[in-house]
Amino acid sequence: MTSSTRPERPSDAAAALREGWRLIAGPTPGPTEADLAVLRSRRIVMLGFGNQARAQAMNLRDAGVRVAVALRASSGRIDEARRESFEVLEPEEATALADLVIVAIPDRAHAEANEHLFRPFARSGTILGFLHGHSIHAGEVVPREDLAVIMVAPKGPGSTLRERFVQGQGIPALVAVAQDPRGDAREVALAFARGIGCGRSGLIETTFAAETIADLFGEQAVLCGGVLALASSAFEVLVERGAPPELAYLECIHELKQVVDLLYARGPSGMRAAISETAEFGALEVWSRRGDLVDRGRLEAILDAILSGEFSRRLAADQRSRDAWLRTERRNADEAPLEPAGRAVRSLMPWLEGGRDAPGTPR
Ligand SMILES: NC(=O)c1ccc[n+]([C@@H]2O[C@H](COP(=O)([O-])OP(=O)(O)OC[C@H]3O[C@@H](n4cnc5c(N)ncnc54)[C@H](OP(=O)(O)O)[C@@H]3O)[C@@H](O)[C@H]2O)c1
Repeated sequence: MTSSTRPERPSDAAAALREGWRLIAGPTPGPTEADLAVLRSRRIVMLGFGNQARAQAMNLRDAGVRVAVALRASSGRIDEARRESFEVLEPEEATALADLVIVAIPDRAHAEANEHLFRPFARSGTILGFLHGHSIHAGEVVPREDLAVIMVAPKGPGSTLRERFVQGQGIPALVAVAQDPRGDAREVALAFARGIGCGRSGLIETTFAAETIADLFGEQAVLCGGVLALASSAFEVLVERGAPPELAYLECIHELKQVVDLLYARGPSGMRAAISETAEFGALEVWSRRGDLVDRGRLEAILDAILSGEFSRRLAADQRSRDAWLRTERRNADEAPLEPAGRAVRSLMPWLEGGRDAPGTPR
């Protein structure tokens, strides 16, 4: 973990990825009184009340840590936060009061928050707590040098973070420090990670750069990009050969859930042990010739674009053009033939999240 007073830069990226990460704490039953002592004397502000913020504020509070929520006057979530009995403050006032500001707003809003909130209003020594490293790593946010900058990045969405906490479990988190003018940032980062329940799983010490690169690569190459690219290509092949789209959707996309659950809980060999021998034979035929199915060069290119900062530049340029590319591609993807097939399959199972009328693309 770096304690430099300089934010990390994309040019450091390849080396930072090699530095990797280190498990600093395996599962612990906490959060205990000792885990949280360093947070109790501090005024903690959760900026935003969305996906991560809501879950993190509730977990911290249930752990016995006092948290106020900061929302813009225009926010539609003020009533929701008050209904959950949180004190709601205006962002400027909250930033000026805070010892720890948890920056739980979308990454694209970080630069504006830095210019209009943190730079003018934060007191010297205040700690900015990020939940993902991209805005700092890409240089979109350059915090004042007298502020500490930490990251606690839970490896899952807020709903899972909250669900696991309530069950007495936790999801792993990556923890990092980018600036530490007072020498207390690491201690606070670890307490924060434990306070939201991540200490009950694994806490992994890393850097903003390594977290960002690995996170972007994982979501693009596999989790959100690659898996669906492969599944939808397979869907198209089955449909082109005459299969009803609903059947193709069921076989190539819907059933992913069962396999992913097995992978999540038991790993690849555990998954193979749980499927039929016919499925395993076919799976190993494809696995043994996976170079035919997956273009390694394309995976390298995805990683290279992340390492060089080219991906971040493309993202920022599109955001400056009011998401022109994103909106077009989102519309095209939303109109793909697998969407109506998916709606038809999900309508057979009205208990699924969103139920029978779920549009599938609620934007
Ligand atoms: N979502 C995940 O699964 C996940 C997982 C790990 C880490 N993270 C990281 O967690 C952070 C938050 O992500 P999220 O998905 O939780 O965000 P989110 O749900 O989209 O955040 C919504 C909240 O952010 C506020 N907000 C949006 N733009 C704002 C602005 N310009 N100024 C002030 N407040 C603004 C909204 O305010 P209003 O109420 O006024 O609309 C709302 O309260 C990100 O850094 C993300 O990378 C997310």
